[in-house]
Amino acid sequence: MKNPDLLYKFQIIFDTPTTPRTFFAPGRINLIGEHTDYNGGHVFPASISFGTYALAQDRDDQKLRFYSLNFPDIGIIECDLRNLDYNDTHNWANFPKGMIKFIRESGFNITAGMDILFYGNIPNGAGLSSSSSIEMVTGVVLEGLFDLEIDRMKMIQLGQKVENDYIGVNSGIMDQFAIGKGKKDHAILLNSQTLEYQYAPITLENHVIIIINTNKQRTLAGSKYNERRAQCEQALADLQTELPIKSLGDLTKEQFEQHKHLIKNDINQKRAKHAVYENQRTIEAAKKLELGDLDAFGKLMNESHMSLQVDYEVTGLELDTIVSAAWEQPGVIGARMTGAGFGGCAIAIVEKDQIDKFKNNLDNIYNEKIGYAPSFYIATIGNGAREISEECAK
Ligand code: GLA
Repeated sequence: MKNPDLLYKFQIIFDTPTTPRTFFAPGRINLIGEHTDYNGGHVFPASISFGTYALAQDRDDQKLRFYSLNFPDIGIIECDLRNLDYNDTHNWANFPKGMIKFIRESGFNITAGMDILFYGNIPNGAGLSSSSSIEMVTGVVLEGLFDLEIDRMKMIQLGQKVENDYIGVNSGIMDQFAIGKGKKDHAILLNSQTLEYQYAPITLENHVIIIINTNKQRTLAGSKYNERRAQCEQALADLQTELPIKSLGDLTKEQFEQHKHLIKNDINQKRAKHAVYENQRTIEAAKKLELGDLDAFGKLMNESHMSLQVDYEVTGLELDTIVSAAWEQPGVIGARMTGAGFGGCAIAIVEKDQIDKFKNNLDNIYNEKIGYAPSFYIATIGNGAREISEECAK
């Protein structure tokens, strides 16, 4: 949707002649390093050009009015700046509400109510971080409207806090980080334990990254996600009976193999194996990419998927069908699920000349086995969360 259309909608919906300011926060893909961020490991995500737009205007009173063009049936959700507690009936608006609450509680002076119109073009429930995108766009709205200087890392951590303490999903920091710090044509190698990070240029020349949406909604993703996290924490506690480690990310593969007998429960042992191996794979993959060894990078992507399928068990029939079909196609360097799993999206690095064939073949295979079609998008890696009023005015 074009900005003039959004502007017009803002004025109609909120019944005001004012011209609001425009903000944007992207979604993200993760190239490799899955379910490592709450295990003290590395992740390698990138922000994409799909994301959430927010048109916002402050008010003379304490009212907050939210409207999403993605959920028109829900209409305007209204609340008061003085009561920002989680409220089931506020539906999706709990994400911006949580962000406003925590930014305020961190001492930032938010003095007035707001009207905010949201519009997202991230496919819904696809695991490309639409919720973190809403949190982060709210962060930059507040920064802009109230002239705040919020340290970006602080904003990222508050976004994670919304997920953990307000929504109730014990997720790591990857999504808000990728969205908050995203940089055009770069992925970010982040050490989730120290929060040290570096940008890695993504220059694929003859290849593209294709996002494949299984169109399987991520049902129960929150509860299964929390269960995986608890299993890893138990495995860590078992290992800590003899090892002085802070997280699973502290272990090499060799150390893990030597001490894995300490983990009493077999399932927990498999979960921990994934966390340790995936972390090492991610560090290696970033090195391969830096050396321009795309083939080696692709192989590590494939291994990552296998590990998420067999040891972490977060893939499921739809993701496994689409990824194994991708592996068989000509010109495919590597493919894997991306994000939390349990449905959602996969990514594949594909030779430019083979894109059409790739899509057709996957479409046929997936339709035949699953009974409905997947969707495809070419990933463009764009910048992180920011105000775009001036970009829009051009
Ligand atoms: C979700 C979470 C992230 C991360 C991924 C899995 O996207 O929000 O913190 O744990 O799953 O890698």
